[in-house]
Amino acid sequence: MKKQIAVLPGDGIGPEIVQEAVKVLDAVAVKFGHEFTYTYADMGAVAIDKTGQPLPEATLKASLESDAVLFGAIGDPKYDNDPTAKVRPEQGLLAIRKALGLFTNIRPVKTFDALLHQSPLKEERVKGTDFVMYRELTGGIYFGEKTLSEDQNTASDLCEYTRAEIERIAHLAFVAARKRRNILTLIDKANVLESSRLWRRVVTELHQAEYSDVELRFLFVDNAAMQMILAPSQFDVILTSNLFGDIISDEGSVIGGSIGLLPSASVGATHALFEPIHGSFPQGAGKGIANPIAMILSAAMMLTHFDMDKEANAITNAVDLALAQGVCTPEVFPEGSYTTSDVGDFIAKNIA
Ligand code: IPM
Ligand code: MG
Repeated sequence: MKKQIAVLPGDGIGPEIVQEAVKVLDAVAVKFGHEFTYTYADMGAVAIDKTGQPLPEATLKASLESDAVLFGAIGDPKYDNDPTAKVRPEQGLLAIRKALGLFTNIRPVKTFDALLHQSPLKEERVKGTDFVMYRELTGGIYFGEKTLSEDQNTASDLCEYTRAEIERIAHLAFVAARKRRNILTLIDKANVLESSRLWRRVVTELHQAEYSDVELRFLFVDNAAMQMILAPSQFDVILTSNLFGDIISDEGSVIGGSIGLLPSASVGATHALFEPIHGSFPQGAGKGIANPIAMILSAAMMLTHFDMDKEANAITNAVDLALAQGVCTPEVFPEGSYTTSDVGDFIAKNIA
């Protein structure tokens, strides 16, 4: 099969980890007889430096014309502490999500047995944790009207959702639950927010109409944040809005022991983008210490999206082997001396 992939390495460690993902994809192409071609383009701080724009026209065009987008990381400290900056790297990511219609962000959280001892939580609590978050990605408070008063002393961000926006992601989450342990947990703040009450109403109606075989649970987001630490293995599929999903997905991502291991997919009706959960880790850039596994597993999610299940499994098996044999960067195995590219080499070799 032929696939055209837009590759956006982005900022910080992005280029290093993307290089390893491409290495692994090339090994998959050889092994399974596919042809992957890549169009590289800039997004984020690197794009601002070159063009003044976080998402240049050419990058958007390349992304729209590709079968999928593979994206590294975004963000640069020179913008983080400057609230007056008019142009920010993150705007590129938000703009591409909106432009490609990527309304669902899928973030799986799975623990690796070899790494249970690395978790900040007690091993017996973490064991068996295997859930996936469905975060709404193109609506809510992220994209609602923003205001700042003339005197700059009053500001607001509107959180708005429509029935249609809730239904389209809820369908995906219910279907995912059916293929897993059949439990869907809606996380909201329906005791306070009108928009959350709409989420509950719409999801409940959909449940009754089409998915009554799935067990539907509700949790307020504050309680959910606590439950994720107390008993993470209770979750199967989590469905939530944009901001709540942003927060609890970072919380969920460290349960397994390293944020450097978790991939994500952002999908819409016509396009899809794959990126690790972690950020651009600017302090680690250029040192060969960045963990490429989340990026490589994001490439595996892309292959699943292409219906290349055998190929995706070949990657996940090779990653499991790397972790079982202690082949990973120092934040996971401090005794080892494996670099970013050593880890990519090992995974690529085990696919070949
Ligand atoms: C994420 C990130 C982004 C978000 C930032 C970089 C805009 O935190 O993908 O979770 O808030 O959605
Ligand atoms: Mg986030």
